[in-house]
Amino acid sequence: MQTLAGKKILLGISGGIAAYKCAELTRRLIERGAEVQVVMTKAAKEFITPLTMQAVSGRPVSDSLLDPAAEASMGHIELAKWADLVLLAPATADLIGRMSAGMGNDLLTTLVLATDAPIAVSPAMNQQMYRNVATQENIATLARRGMMVWGPAAGEQACGDVGPGRMLEPMQLVERCEQFFGPKPLTGKSVVITAGPTREAIDPVRYISNHSSGKMGFALAEAASQLGAQVTLIAGPVSLSTPANVERIDVVSAEQMHKAALEAATKHDIFIGCAAVADYRPVDVATQKIKKTADNNDMQIVMVKNPDIIADVASLTQHRPFTVGFAAETQDVETYALGKLARKNLDMICANDVSVEGQGFNSDSNAITVYWQGGQQALGSAKKTELGRAILECISAKLASA
Ligand code: PMT
Repeated sequence: MQTLAGKKILLGISGGIAAYKCAELTRRLIERGAEVQVVMTKAAKEFITPLTMQAVSGRPVSDSLLDPAAEASMGHIELAKWADLVLLAPATADLIGRMSAGMGNDLLTTLVLATDAPIAVSPAMNQQMYRNVATQENIATLARRGMMVWGPAAGEQACGDVGPGRMLEPMQLVERCEQFFGPKPLTGKSVVITAGPTREAIDPVRYISNHSSGKMGFALAEAASQLGAQVTLIAGPVSLSTPANVERIDVVSAEQMHKAALEAATKHDIFIGCAAVADYRPVDVATQKIKKTADNNDMQIVMVKNPDIIADVASLTQHRPFTVGFAAETQDVETYALGKLARKNLDMICANDVSVEGQGFNSDSNAITVYWQGGQQALGSAKKTELGRAILECISAKLASA
């Protein structure tokens, strides 16, 4: 199907081993109706030839900023204006670093500066390079400037390492392009999402928390933004970059999340409570570090119930948003989820079965069934990024039918 008919995609290839996948990527994009103009850095040409890319794209490859002949045909400013989407794949640590610094020292970085088209960056590099704080800060900078960050995936790498840093596969990038150009059913809607854990202080150096990484909530935020919504993300302490075009409010404790959520809820159309909020917090927080004593083997911490954020949002009487909760369960998933749906007066609940290794807390995948009064939809087991989108599409369909 010509899902990308007439879309002009400028494919920027930098010098990583994943560059060899760009021939396949280009073919699949063109198959779907896209026009693909390839731009290569000097290093990219060490991994795949311009001749190959010209053959698959049907267009001469652009690779030089200072080539009078190339400038005479389609100059760099024209190229920058031509694109409906700039897709940088693979985006190496070097390319990301240069873009983050605002450099324009070759054709590709100059195009990035000169274009007003949306830019998607698909990082690809060694896992240690990806984890390096400089790379992480550079990626966060690009996302803050509104660039979409697609990937990376984790797994075995060309160098033999295992970890995050693999470029998304060509078909995954094609799907991202299709989603980007696809319908945006949440245009005009605003969504607030809570994500991650909360931390409940015991003393200045200790706290009670849980294993939530924030991945599910951040995936929802990214998907909501891609589907056209204006998104506010209330995040507990996590080490994730803010998705492009998402406003982020950082909190630590359940009480802070409660305050931020209640302030935001009435200003948004949809509220999604994905955070793993601590149900209890210590009654007294010691002002100094609690010391171990020789004569005491036991220690007791008296706890008090935290406010139930989503129940308070759902019981708003004015400007109540469509309210969606989560339930992570290890057994009787449906029964417990339906219990929370009713007890907390929610419009929908996403039940996730976290009994299976590799699903739920701090993993890249999850298994979700969405329930509402009188209905349900199984979204199956998938990457959190895919489930995020499926959940938002489910919410959007429910709102449209209301
Ligand atoms: O962050 P990840 O590592 O990606 O993991 C994702 C997740 C497993 C944390 C997420 O998918 C999830 O299931 N979140 C909800 C966890 C849960 O089961 O929470 P709960 O049963 O304690 O709460 C049910 C609902 O009430 C949730 O929507 C929760 O946000 C909300 N709640 C709970 C307690 C409280 N004091 N306030 C709340 O708003």
